[in-house]
Amino acid sequence: MENDLNNFQKARAEEKRMERTVENCPFRTKFHVMPPVGWLNDPNGLCQFRGVYHAYFQYSPLNVNGGGGYWGHCTSRDLLHWEYKEPVLTTDIPEDKSGVYSGSALTEDGRMYLFYTGNVKQPGSYDYIDSGRISTQILVESEDGQHMSEKVKLLGMEDYPEDITQHVRDPKVWKEDGHYYMVLGARARAWDENGKRRDKGGILLYQSDDRKNWKLYRELVPEKPFGYMWECPDLFELGKERVLSFCPQGLESQEEKFQNIYQSGYSLPGRSQDPEETFREWDMGFDFYAPQSFQADDGRRILIGWAGMPDTTETNRNLSVANGWQHCLTLPCELEYHDGKIFRMPVREIYDLDWEEAPVGNGRFHWAGKALKLDMGGICGERTVIRLGNRENGVTVTVEGNRVELSFLDEKGVPSRCGGGRGKRTGRTEGPVEELLVVIDSSIMEIFVNGGETAFTTRIYLEEKERVIDVSGCDGYILEMI
Ligand code: FRU
Repeated sequence: MENDLNNFQKARAEEKRMERTVENCPFRTKFHVMPPVGWLNDPNGLCQFRGVYHAYFQYSPLNVNGGGGYWGHCTSRDLLHWEYKEPVLTTDIPEDKSGVYSGSALTEDGRMYLFYTGNVKQPGSYDYIDSGRISTQILVESEDGQHMSEKVKLLGMEDYPEDITQHVRDPKVWKEDGHYYMVLGARARAWDENGKRRDKGGILLYQSDDRKNWKLYRELVPEKPFGYMWECPDLFELGKERVLSFCPQGLESQEEKFQNIYQSGYSLPGRSQDPEETFREWDMGFDFYAPQSFQADDGRRILIGWAGMPDTTETNRNLSVANGWQHCLTLPCELEYHDGKIFRMPVREIYDLDWEEAPVGNGRFHWAGKALKLDMGGICGERTVIRLGNRENGVTVTVEGNRVELSFLDEKGVPSRCGGGRGKRTGRTEGPVEELLVVIDSSIMEIFVNGGETAFTTRIYLEEKERVIDVSGCDGYILEMI
């Protein structure tokens, strides 16, 4: 019987079978997008369509450790309460046999156009860089965001420039001055001065007048390598400044920079040809990758990331796995550009939730069953400490001067169980830290520093009875719960 089910029916059956277990998991969140079961990664196809927000996501309902196979789907009217729908895409044509990879939405004249990468990994002993992989850019259309048309192939291996390897993916499409543009992440073949292979990440920009026929418009691979591959590119304008958001892989970790295995950040191509010169990381926490932005009807530029990280051994011990699911998306954030920097704060809808002031005694509060919002002002560089969890198991956020540290380590340097393998991350603001906004939704904590100049996203797996917050070193705060 099992084999007679199609992919969509298999997903549905697994969602049903696991419904109870997943629902009863203490790590489920109140207002973040999660997989109904299994694994979630990148946000895809973000848009506001006929007034409703749509978030699609890379979805593996049949395997809690990933592997893909679907685009999941959910909708919302306020970006915080999400209704889960059936998946909309699965691997059902030869061109997307090994994956319906990431992509984006374009909405125009009451229709939705979804662009994504069909991935094929041919069986055999290939390196999957120069051989064995086929990356195809594909279009589907929809009138309701749920039912999709036939898949149409737009670009294939024959359409990419000579110097590009078989890694070409994650189309982000938009319309500008009467033309359509598609930006793709790519890995270019390159060698260093000693003749050693050293590939370079870059982007390909295609142009079209009808959404179907695309021609290469620009190839942007930096002179000086900045990572070997760029995933999930996004190109948009913010306060008259052109912004290129992308995820470079292969940057070397430094003490307070590029601390994760892969990075995600943005450059300002109008200011420098060299992406590294203007590059800033979107987030300094453990769990932030593959963000995508879209423009809401009211003009806001909103960014949502995956609160996760690919290929990690450190953070892949998320404790929700025992209950059949892992990962979530970040809070949707509004972006604003000031002076060479993007400020990222949660969407204003968050203030419309029914927050209630929490009864805090001596800076301590038990928050089992609650989500929290902690607003701290007037810090002015004073040493301020937030402890989440109890003495043995928790995370400590320490603010001093212009430095913020997030640590799951105890005095002996042993990581707390609730961190699932996470250690320590550090970030800085330009001037002293003055304000913090901390949002905690069950198993995710997001910290926004100085009005969103920098942020820290991390997952944290505390049992309900361990959910204690302690604030010290700052009196000017308001703690609210929901
Ligand atoms: C980023 C990424 C994308 C790809 C997708 C596959 O996390 O590797 O480049 O399209 O995930 O799930």
